[in-house]
Amino acid sequence: QPGAAEWVPRTLSLTRLRDAAHDCEGCELWRDSTQVVFSAGTARARLMLVGEQPGDREDRTGEPFVGPAGRLLDGALDAAGIRRADVYLTNAVKHFRHHTEERGKRRIHDNPSVAHIVACHPWLEAELAAVRPRVVVCLGATAGRAVLGRPVRVTTERGHVIAQPGPDIPSAVITVHPSALLRTRGDAGWDESFDALVRDLVTAREAAS
Ligand code: URA
Ligand code: SF4
Repeated sequence: QPGAAEWVPRTLSLTRLRDAAHDCEGCELWRDSTQVVFSAGTARARLMLVGEQPGDREDRTGEPFVGPAGRLLDGALDAAGIRRADVYLTNAVKHFRHHTEERGKRRIHDNPSVAHIVACHPWLEAELAAVRPRVVVCLGATAGRAVLGRPVRVTTERGHVIAQPGPDIPSAVITVHPSALLRTRGDAGWDESFDALVRDLVTAREAAS
């Protein structure tokens, strides 16, 4: 796969980046999905949140974090005293990787591979250059890998401020992916897991202020 570079315009305008992303064929993921899901939020954000990839709902609507994981994230942001309108929200991979169940039409999420993360990285670089956030929150291992450029273990690396992990990134905080939390909803320990996500977000908010 060629990677996204040849589709990424040299610009610091998020509008121009977003428009151009609709044409991207930097990897094969554009073929089976409805549309690119670029980002939401303001170029003036001090906090940038990076997820994994769009899910089924995001693929249909074109907006990041509007499905079940997004609702959980909204709740955690709220509890952390962060307004969604004040953050820049994006994904490591901009198209929905999935397969369709043989019988029926349910679309099942597949994790993006390292090759997809690498192919899509030029978009993330352009977003980092345009937004210049003070803190990047990596929601899960895929986001961590994309932002830090190395394998990341969420359990051991989460929750503290990592100084200058990249040229356009003054600091980063790793935390869990909201979808991983969703899968444990109702289990013993759910409240603690949710609170730990909120704590990580508070750490990021304080580091960004
Ligand atoms: N999960 C993500 O990582 N990103 C989204 O946009 C939605 C769900
Ligand atoms: Fe381009 Fe990223 Fe979509 Fe692949 S996933 S086609 S690199 S925008």
